Amino acid sequence: MEKILILDFGGQYNQLIARRVRECNVYCEVHPYTISMEDIKAFSPIGIIFTGGPGSVYTANSPQVDSAVFELGVPVLGICYGCQLIAHHLGGQVTPAQDNSAREYGKTETYYDVSSPIFNGLPEKGISWMSHGDYMAKVPVGFQLTAHSAACPNVAIADDERRFYGVQFHPEVNHTEHGTDMIRNFLYEVCGACGDWTMADYKDTAIRQIREKVGNGKVLLALSGGVDSSVCAALLAEAIGSQLTCVFVDQGLMRLNEGDEVELAFSKWSMNFIRVNAESRFLLKLAGEAEPERKRKIIGEEFIRVFEEEAKKIGAVDYLAQGTIYPDVIESGAGTAAVIKSHHNVGGLPDYVEFKEILEPLNMLFKDEVRQLGRELGLPEYLVSRQPFPGPGLAIRIIGDITKDKTDTLRWADHIFRDEIAKAGQDKLLSQYFAVLTNTRSVGVMGDGRTYDYTLALRAVTTDDFMTADWARIPYEVLDRISVRIVNEVRSINRIVYDITSKPPATVEWE
Ligand code: XMP
Repeated sequence: MEKILILDFGGQYNQLIARRVRECNVYCEVHPYTISMEDIKAFSPIGIIFTGGPGSVYTANSPQVDSAVFELGVPVLGICYGCQLIAHHLGGQVTPAQDNSAREYGKTETYYDVSSPIFNGLPEKGISWMSHGDYMAKVPVGFQLTAHSAACPNVAIADDERRFYGVQFHPEVNHTEHGTDMIRNFLYEVCGACGDWTMADYKDTAIRQIREKVGNGKVLLALSGGVDSSVCAALLAEAIGSQLTCVFVDQGLMRLNEGDEVELAFSKWSMNFIRVNAESRFLLKLAGEAEPERKRKIIGEEFIRVFEEEAKKIGAVDYLAQGTIYPDVIESGAGTAAVIKSHHNVGGLPDYVEFKEILEPLNMLFKDEVRQLGRELGLPEYLVSRQPFPGPGLAIRIIGDITKDKTDTLRWADHIFRDEIAKAGQDKLLSQYFAVLTNTRSVGVMGDGRTYDYTLALRAVTTDDFMTADWARIPYEVLDRISVRIVNEVRSINRIVYDITSKPPATVEWE
């Protein structure tokens, strides 16, 4: 399979680069810039992309690349910081842009040399997304300038002979017009890709690899009923049939009726399915804990302990399988980017786990690829296109400590929110929507009496990839109906607010 290596220098859009490459039907992986030359050679990429990053290439301790990477004969595309790295290593000069007027942030009119392979077939002028405080003051010998803007003469560089390319802007973000086409040009025109990354192939390869690895062994799958673990169940079921047991743990933090719905859906499949009702033990472990990361870790650990117990009952289970996907891995701090949240099924894992190995057959896939794989495996559309629900469940939607009363309150409020959204036909327009129980109480008046109750926040976003998201513009009249119903029907909530922050700077979930 053709592979692109993405070297991660800590930029915030690194996952987007990977997504764009995959969208062009070329497989890629993101690795930290510290990866060794031997590992790079073993990976055997047809091309390498250097990501952006917050550093300055000329400062001591800034992330650097081993110069030997330029001797491999493999094409390189440097993006933003990555472009400056190419210049810095190959004899150019990068300086702080405060010294001149060339620092640029945001949408910038940019002029391209369309005879360069990267800009081949594109308009000569377009908007690009810039975000740089440094500037390539001197272009390295052997390189041509291939793009400029009003403020900056050196926006893109190219050495066609050695096949090294650099762009100062971010082609991976949607704000850059034709950005994906530029990446596609790099892959197809420069690296000679033919595009062999398809879900049908991935399915066959994954099934083969699972069979090889598991042999006659037994696998226990942690099934939550969400898209990822459902697709994982279907994949494993196809690969190893009755050697698989799916264990669904109802931790008491599911949405209204969700436990029964998951049980109903999966008990229809011909697979070993076990439901464990574990509400009280989870609530006991979480009692009094208000810190978001600790809540996640407690839940992660408790899940594993339940799975270990179930595995003992089944006997001789070597593997624990989870529906971890690539963004979970990256956001939990596998790369060089800061840890945002410990996803319960990655960073939330306890140090010691009583299984021979953890199987995560989806851990290199993005969400939309997982959905595609689900369709490829013949899963029904309602399962494949469900909105995501986080493994730690309502625990990370209750701010502060968690009690049974609070989970019941949130469950009802969330149910009403989702019910009204569906009635208004808004559900197809939203990527994710849910209620959050804040720990703020405020004064209200109901009937003729004073109330002092909780504030509920409504959250709804639209997004392609959950890495960035916009808050959704739900019509006021729908919000109004939701608000009236919740304060009337749910005890202990007397105020509703709507979250109007996008991601970044906020995240989708509140914790
Ligand atoms: P954030 O809050 O990081 O959420 O912007 C991005 C997406 O990830 C989901 N999410 C999780 N999913 N385990 C999961 O399976 C987790 O621990 C977890 N935390 C967040 C979130 O619902 C959103 O879709």
